[in-house]
Amino acid sequence: MNSPLRSVSAFCAPTAGAALGPVKIERRPVGPRDVLIEIDYCGVCHSDLHMARNDWGMSLFPMVPGHEIIGRVVSTGAEVTDLAAGKRVGVGCLVDSCRQCEACDDHLEQYCVKGFTLTYSSPTRDPGGLTFGGYSKQIVVDRNYVVTVPETLDPAGAAPLLCAGITTWSPLAHWKIGPGMTVGVIGLGGLGHMGVKFAHALGARVVMITTSPQKGEDARKLGADDVLISSDAKAMAGFAGKFDFLLNTIPVPHDFNAYMGLLKRDATMCIVGAIGPAAALNTAPLVMGRRNIAGSLIGGIKETQEMLDFAGLNNITADVEVIDVAAINDAYGRMQRSDVKYRFVIDLATLD
Ligand SMILES: NC(=O)c1ccc[n+]([C@@H]2O[C@H](COP(=O)([O-])OP(=O)(O)OC[C@H]3O[C@@H](n4cnc5c(N)ncnc54)[C@H](OP(=O)(O)O)[C@@H]3O)[C@@H](O)[C@H]2O)c1
Ligand SMILES: [Zn+2]
Ligand SMILES: [Zn+2]
Repeated sequence: MNSPLRSVSAFCAPTAGAALGPVKIERRPVGPRDVLIEIDYCGVCHSDLHMARNDWGMSLFPMVPGHEIIGRVVSTGAEVTDLAAGKRVGVGCLVDSCRQCEACDDHLEQYCVKGFTLTYSSPTRDPGGLTFGGYSKQIVVDRNYVVTVPETLDPAGAAPLLCAGITTWSPLAHWKIGPGMTVGVIGLGGLGHMGVKFAHALGARVVMITTSPQKGEDARKLGADDVLISSDAKAMAGFAGKFDFLLNTIPVPHDFNAYMGLLKRDATMCIVGAIGPAAALNTAPLVMGRRNIAGSLIGGIKETQEMLDFAGLNNITADVEVIDVAAINDAYGRMQRSDVKYRFVIDLATLD
């Protein structure tokens, strides 16, 4: 027989732009394929801020954000035979997809053509009618969307791997970044600092491209070989045509044209930050150099597991500032001001 509904403490945004505060939510009974997870840490992604403010016009409220979830298995349904209680596990941005389309067959659930279920703010048959994310004590997730996390990794530092990590890993893997290549990471925040770490670990030469000169020293410590200040026109001209790949994590609409000239012939700038309309694109740098502009969304579950295994082998975690759950509204304000070093992570032990 299924276990009963479970009342769980959470932090919730009641409406768009409202401050987050404590609430009780209900988690569904643990079904045969489900995993009940006690959440230890949850990273704070800039997407949480976009979603809580309804920047993308798709948010559903009340919203319990959080899709960088690290916890331990409490119990599992009868059909889950490979996850014992106590196992360190993670949940990222997706908790379901159609499991039948070409994308799902290819382990690319993030591109599911019938639409995936986001970890929060997606319609669901669960209690409350909406998925609720990781700013909460416990979550129930189908085994197929749960990944295992190397025990050697610091759990707070590992939490951001579930979104910032996979969102930067996936394009670096897709575009086969490795030794002999020069990669520019644009924007030193949660995604950007993971992009620098992974591109460096994959053997590429890494240039941090930033609006914040004061972050240069940190960028080098994170693995950047060079730092390029994007407002310095002379320095930008010096890097013209030097990059095999650009990973653009800027969270707001901006002028892509400023960066296209940095690419070599045939090279690609991949957008992972700004989602939505952009300023007019000058196609001349594309046509004249057969350059590409592309986008990428998080990563599939299999790829997320591969990224976590790589992170475990190479001891890669995020640089985090662990906060009490009550500090979340201040943390959003600081993230808005690009004042994050380099990811806030909520310690769920601070939630009653
Ligand atoms: N594609 C996906 O699947 C996916 C997944 C997760 C997140 N995202 C999106 O990726 C974006 C970045 O997320 P994040 O969590 O890394 O954010 P973040 O921690 O706030 O970092 C963003 C960084 O971008 C730079 N930046 C901010 N405003 C800028 C501006 N007006 N012009 C130029 N640079 C600016 C800043 O770096 P500097 O100070 O170094 O310039 C800032 O630290 C967000 O929009 C988020 O929603 C997308
Ligand atoms: Zn995210
Ligand atoms: Zn699908």
